[in-house]
Amino acid sequence: MTKTRVGIINVTGYAGVELARLLCRHPMVEVTSVTGRSVAGQKLSKVFPHLACLDLAIESELGEVDLVFSAMPHQESAKEVIPLLEQGLKVVDISADFRLKDANDYTRCYGFTHPAPQLLVRSVYGLTELHRDKVRSANLVANPGCYPTGAVLALAPVVKNGLIEPDIIVDAKSGISGAGRSVSLQTHYSEANEDVTAYALGGHRHLPEMVQELKMLRPRQTPSVTFVPHLTPMTRGILTTCYASFVSGKLSSGRKGEDEVRQLYQDFYKDEPFVRVTDSPPHTKHTCGSNLCLIYPAIDHRTKRLIVISCIDNLVKGAAGQAIQNMNIMLGFPETTGLDAVALYP
Ligand SMILES: NC(=O)c1ccc[n+]([C@@H]2O[C@H](COP(=O)([O-])OP(=O)(O)OC[C@H]3O[C@@H](n4cnc5c(N)ncnc54)[C@H](OP(=O)(O)O)[C@@H]3O)[C@@H](O)[C@H]2O)c1
Repeated sequence: MTKTRVGIINVTGYAGVELARLLCRHPMVEVTSVTGRSVAGQKLSKVFPHLACLDLAIESELGEVDLVFSAMPHQESAKEVIPLLEQGLKVVDISADFRLKDANDYTRCYGFTHPAPQLLVRSVYGLTELHRDKVRSANLVANPGCYPTGAVLALAPVVKNGLIEPDIIVDAKSGISGAGRSVSLQTHYSEANEDVTAYALGGHRHLPEMVQELKMLRPRQTPSVTFVPHLTPMTRGILTTCYASFVSGKLSSGRKGEDEVRQLYQDFYKDEPFVRVTDSPPHTKHTCGSNLCLIYPAIDHRTKRLIVISCIDNLVKGAAGQAIQNMNIMLGFPETTGLDAVALYP
């Protein structure tokens, strides 16, 4: 069987190197080209010894491939992706550059003028569980941000079914790899170890993405989201806790209401291979290295609020794993191909 040739732009970042790790065991594709600015010319296995399974040199320019993953920083990614689309290649972009439908959001939240607003109409937001049919025929998939993946999957069933009021709180804790591989004071070991801090209180860049997707689920309601991300001293993982008040009269009271909410989540995700509704609050360790999103809905009976907790690995379901899930659909492969890794525990 001829394998589809895929390339990774920026294999030297965390999302890029995670793509290489997952793809080296994919039975239907072959990674034939990887790029990386600082180590171009070196063997991939020399720079990343855990990738000895891939006998490749890191290039400065992408070679001939059929599908490309771009794992570049935002703004830089669009520069790489636009010519590839013009050549007719299929692209999964892991950066934020094609996620937002309103070009003004790029000026407002990312500080640059979008170079190809016409592509924002064409790009498909790759939260697979919500946009699978569009992903199937897409040439450009904008892979979701890690925080929006955890938050939107946690909230989708209740938002879609009009069960909660639009005032929503999203409180998320991320591991340090969410900040990428470049060194900074914030992610320096002695700053981040044994420390937890909230950041981006003035509005994180992922907020417009969450609002865009929640609004799409229930167009007649504009969600008002308070999103507070936290940096925690673990390598991978995002634990997201969302809070919202129920629309009155939609649920039975007491235990019965809780069963109804759980049933709603179970029905919503019943055919989803990578989303599981759990019986107890999930741990980040339960998704580490796997493409799963674990979701635990509950009710605070005293305040009559929904509490829903989700858990993902930011580098897998929050980046490389979901990108491969989308690639599988774009290429007509079974969606779970190459994504059967079980979480690394403890
Ligand atoms: N980390 C996550 O959990 C996560 C999750 C979802 C999406 N993403 C997205 O994935 C993309 C990559 O993120 P990451 O976390 O993997 O990044 P990263 O680890 O911080 O990668 C940064 C690397 O990108 C290269 N780079 C930086 N500026 C560049 C430029 N102007 N031109 C070319 N290369 C440049 C540098 O590699 P060299 O040293 O080789 O130049 C740098 O080491 C971002 O758009 C990010 O938003 C990340």
